[in-house]
Amino acid sequence: RRELIVAIDGPSGAGKSTLSKLLARALNYTNIDTGAMYRCVALAAFRRGIDPADEESLGSLGRSVRIEFLRSNGGERVLLDGEDVSAAIRTPEISLLTSRVSACLAVREAMVELQRRMGEKGGVVLEGRDIGTVVFPGAEAKFFLAASAKERGRRRYEELCAKGHDVDLAQTVSEVEARDAADSAREHAPLVQAPDAVAIDSTVMTIDEVLAVMLEEVRKRR
Ligand code: C5P
Repeated sequence: RRELIVAIDGPSGAGKSTLSKLLARALNYTNIDTGAMYRCVALAAFRRGIDPADEESLGSLGRSVRIEFLRSNGGERVLLDGEDVSAAIRTPEISLLTSRVSACLAVREAMVELQRRMGEKGGVVLEGRDIGTVVFPGAEAKFFLAASAKERGRRRYEELCAKGHDVDLAQTVSEVEARDAADSAREHAPLVQAPDAVAIDSTVMTIDEVLAVMLEEVRKRR
């Protein structure tokens, strides 16, 4: 049995985080949420008052922040320079800012380097937008997880409500659409499906159904 690199890419709200965690657990692999890394850079930029158009400052910020994943019983925590920012990075404001910050090439270079270091030995599931295309184009198993924009917006809405955010469904759907449009249209590492990725549309599938498809594909490659 080989320890593979598994890539899960797709737009927001398609179920990447949920499936990535479940798949990693089922395979006894490490799960790496690359979106959380870009969110950390965005939060740090916001707190320091850095203009999202200031690429030079963003780049040096991206190279200097310390991002760690902590796996505890209460789930996975994200630490930014030692501080638990798991909740702070998931607000709607930081989500939109992250989309702008992640378009900066110097930020991407810094994150990609970290991601390659974390994943190069295999035994990892990485989820993001450019894992199968840029970070690990040689990943043994690649998935492109999609769902209709309406369904993705609804899922994000439920998620935010559950966390106590006061949000509006129509606005959440349009924010999700705006973020995907920006992620797909950007110059560096846009969101695209890798030619060798297995495409899964989760619109009308249960989590267990998607997980079963992924496990089967991974088993074929081990
Ligand atoms: O996956 P998540 O919604 O947490 O990602 C937040 C944002 O981070 C995305 O909208 C995208 O702009 C950026 N991102 C990226 N490349 C990745 C992962 C996330 O540009 N590999």
